[in-house]
Amino acid sequence: MQMHSNTIFITGGTSGIGRGLAEALTRLGNQVIISGRREDRLREICAANPGMRHYTLDIRGPEAVHAVAREVVAEFPSLNWVVNNAGVQRSLQLAPGAPLDEQGLQDEINTNLLGVIRVATEFLPHLVQRPNALLLNVSSGLAFVPMARFPVYCATKAAVHSFTLSLRHQLKDSGVKVMELIPPYVATELGGPRKTVGPGGPQPMPLDTFIAETMKAIESGDDELAIGDARNLVAATNPESVKTVFGRMNH
Ligand SMILES: NC(=O)c1ccc[n+]([C@@H]2O[C@H](COP(=O)([O-])OP(=O)(O)OC[C@H]3O[C@@H](n4cnc5c(N)ncnc54)[C@H](OP(=O)(O)O)[C@@H]3O)[C@@H](O)[C@H]2O)c1
Repeated sequence: MQMHSNTIFITGGTSGIGRGLAEALTRLGNQVIISGRREDRLREICAANPGMRHYTLDIRGPEAVHAVAREVVAEFPSLNWVVNNAGVQRSLQLAPGAPLDEQGLQDEINTNLLGVIRVATEFLPHLVQRPNALLLNVSSGLAFVPMARFPVYCATKAAVHSFTLSLRHQLKDSGVKVMELIPPYVATELGGPRKTVGPGGPQPMPLDTFIAETMKAIESGDDELAIGDARNLVAATNPESVKTVFGRMNH
């Protein structure tokens, strides 16, 4: 993949992986446009990274995604990469009798799955017209082997993986490259206090290391970019066998 001179829209650019990718891609000479709900963060990050631009966007709203996609494409007709990164993670106890947080449930699915589908479909009519186009969906190693304390999160990420396989197949004759970034446990704000694990607990990959490896992985042009320990979780599902059966089912 050409890693410079692209015009790139990133969801969830206010922290963690989205912010890290936005800054690394800006340093390489790309026009980067970040988005997220926290306007103050968007302003602060753009002020620290000359040339970076931002849009306030909550991907839970279909109208908002539609409107922002139209504005971004109008303002940046050279747009050729979209990074579908925004996500949330909640722990959820499913023991019988535990009360269900209906709003939390809907928010998590709306953000992690419906938001990703909305962003992809709103930008695709533009991307198919652009040379060197890329749609990068961020799933998780937990899409492949779930961690039971995040049951809905893992289910949404498995769905993002499945959606990405289908999308790549549907776009195989277009010029749009569809990639899936599969992170391991990375030190970000995701899930809040779970990041503060003590010695002996699972240790997150430092964000800088993750971003450096991800930039190399994107450059490789592979379809599925499993980073660090996420490779073990992907391997556990026998990816070659999945590809073979998928190929038989989809012509
Ligand atoms: N960190 C990990 O261990 C890990 C592992 C595997 C996969 N991932 C995936 O990597 C992606 C980035 O996560 P992260 O680790 O960088 O977490 P993070 O630091 O919490 O960042 C999440 C980003 O998503 C944005 N966001 C959340 N809800 C949103 C909404 N409704 N509309 C628009 N933006 C929204 C947040 O911005 P605002 O709050 O400003 O809206 C923030 O910029 C997620 O999809 C996550 O599932 C992370």
